[in-house]
Amino acid sequence: MNKKDITCHITEYLIDELSDQDRTLADKAREAAGNAWAPYSDFRVGAALLLENGEIIQGNNQENAAYPSGLCAERVAVFYANANYPDIPILALAVVAVKKGKVTEEPVYPCGACRQVLAESENRYGKSMRILMVGRDQVDIVASATELLPRNFNHKNLI
Ligand code: THU
Repeated sequence: MNKKDITCHITEYLIDELSDQDRTLADKAREAAGNAWAPYSDFRVGAALLLENGEIIQGNNQENAAYPSGLCAERVAVFYANANYPDIPILALAVVAVKKGKVTEEPVYPCGACRQVLAESENRYGKSMRILMVGRDQVDIVASATELLPRNFNHKNLI
């Protein structure tokens, strides 16, 4: 038998400690949450991602009366970027959730399905994607999507 422990490296920041670039990304995610279509959960999620060419892409959750047809903010943003900028790596993604008009106190982490999609993006471009989970005062940052989904299923499993 061989026991292994997997460690996840998260750095907690206060909003004021963010670099200007990270602060902008957090603000863009907050702005995107305002355009979410979330009439069923009233849980508005915004995502903003930074492309290697400096452009920022925004996304938000899109719900549907047929509930499973909706999509999370992170995947809306990543799929938009992949569809329109297929050759440009994503360097960072910020995510924020707004409940009853206020940013959640706790930073919200991407759901499992989104983590899988974020990991695919890293594999696709061969570049780590920093992920910023933005709360009211605190921002948690990981340096790579694999920090959120170690030992993930990926293209190598299909060979
Ligand atoms: N949601 C996201 O957009 N991102 C996440 O990481 C977690 C959940 C959305 C899906 C749904 O529209 C609402 O939040 C409640 O789950």
